[in-house]
Amino acid sequence: IRVLFASSEVFPLIKTGGLADVSYALPKALHALGLDVRVLLPAYSSVKAQLSWVKTDIKIPLFSFLHQAPATILEARLPDSDVPLYLLDCPMLYQREGGPYQDGMGNDWADNALRFGLLSKAAALFGEHQFDFKPDIIHCNDWQTGLTPAYLHYSPRSQAKTLISLHNVAYQGVFGSEVMGLLELPPASFGMYGLEYYGLVSFLKAGIYYSNWITTVSPTYALEIQTPTFGYGLAGLLAGRKQQLTGILNGIDDHWNPHTDPYLAQNYDFSDQLKQDKFANKKALCDRVGLSAEINTPLIGLIGRLTYQKGIDLILPVLDQILAEKVQVVLLGSGDKGMEQQLQALASRYPQQLRVTLGYDESLAHQIEAGADLFLMPSRFEPCGLNQLYSMRYGTLPIVRHTGGLADTVTDVTPCHLDAGSANGFVFAEETPEALLQTVRRALVLYRCPELWHTLQRHGMQRDLTWTGRAAEYLSLYQQVKGDDFSGSS
Ligand code: ADP
Ligand code: GLC
Repeated sequence: IRVLFASSEVFPLIKTGGLADVSYALPKALHALGLDVRVLLPAYSSVKAQLSWVKTDIKIPLFSFLHQAPATILEARLPDSDVPLYLLDCPMLYQREGGPYQDGMGNDWADNALRFGLLSKAAALFGEHQFDFKPDIIHCNDWQTGLTPAYLHYSPRSQAKTLISLHNVAYQGVFGSEVMGLLELPPASFGMYGLEYYGLVSFLKAGIYYSNWITTVSPTYALEIQTPTFGYGLAGLLAGRKQQLTGILNGIDDHWNPHTDPYLAQNYDFSDQLKQDKFANKKALCDRVGLSAEINTPLIGLIGRLTYQKGIDLILPVLDQILAEKVQVVLLGSGDKGMEQQLQALASRYPQQLRVTLGYDESLAHQIEAGADLFLMPSRFEPCGLNQLYSMRYGTLPIVRHTGGLADTVTDVTPCHLDAGSANGFVFAEETPEALLQTVRRALVLYRCPELWHTLQRHGMQRDLTWTGRAAEYLSLYQQVKGDDFSGSS
């Protein structure tokens, strides 16, 4: 099976969240299973600067109103792997300072419809077998490649099947109807049974409507998005396609392995020395952020985008009470400016206990996972979530809300789960600060029971969280989709 994996971000080249981690690790794991999988990514300036690449003779015609020479495809390799990486090079659209979706001020690029319309179209041309690499499956990811299935659905030359993975249904790529003509989308697609969304064009709806198969990144999220609360306006459509909707959990890459992690002061694995090993990392972390480390003072870590999704506003009202429990908290993230300010204000009131680092920092993220005792992730919704998996791998017990991938991967400490040997963290259901506070307190009680704590760490650390099994699930889905003779919803 040949697969083109199209994505708008790929670790370590360009990353805003978990999509980048998945777009690196899953193709690598598929390649290890023997698949000919190749990744397609825009040639953002920062990506071009990090890689050595060669030009190919593959040309991608631009939308005709742009009156420009075709875009070209550069070929490179995914770092530290043999996976071929195609870079869609179109300086007018991708060569600029700033993030993949936004400028330095946090505003969406005004031409995102064109930027990701072209990415979608390039993937579709591979699906028409216009070039030497002739994929059987185009694996799209999120709204940025959502138009690929629409282009292929209407193309008489389509040779490939499409599968779209939904990493987050809350981001949909919705643009004004004027993009229909610019992106050369067939007028027939602009309707309720198509990519139209209340008079606008929705890239994500296009992906969901026209792709042959849909996956999401956890079984629970696959069910949740069929309900109004989690479906963000697409619940009905998703429920209508539930026969072709599969939830497959994400795994973790070996970059997140405490035994080999180069960012750690002390590498470790599960052993009787675990507390000491983790304390060496706690000490290094505290030194780095300016706290004083105590072996028996629990340290709670948090890493992530500061957004409504991540439930940061559930923490803020009870942070005083959490800190009254004599814990330390180290937080790393960026996002909502109001939340950033509130966190900074709290940090200045608790200089001995709370450290807030605003921004993106890969090494600090690894050091928090290794140095913390507990990891807080009270998300309102979480398609899969990677940090709770990293936490488990690092012997850092997660405290999570019961939703999406968090519900599928974290098993609460109850007598029954302890007996079964499955308990590996702390889970609460209610979306309230009080429920969160109560669960933090419950975790702190158990922190005082070292043997039980060690057992819980073992359950997380020894669990198979690797991509191997999950990649095999994708492979059998590809085989099924390749063989099936159906096309999209219509
Ligand atoms: P999401 O994709 O919704 O943001 P995930 O848990 O799937 O959530 O993945 C987030 C990824 O981004 C993880 O690899 C996490 O370590 C990383 N990350 C998030 N915020 C930061 C940050 N401020 N600095 C470093 N890494 C971060
Ligand atoms: C999204 C989700 C997150 C998931 C990630 C990778 O960003 O918010 O839960 O882990 O994609 O699939």
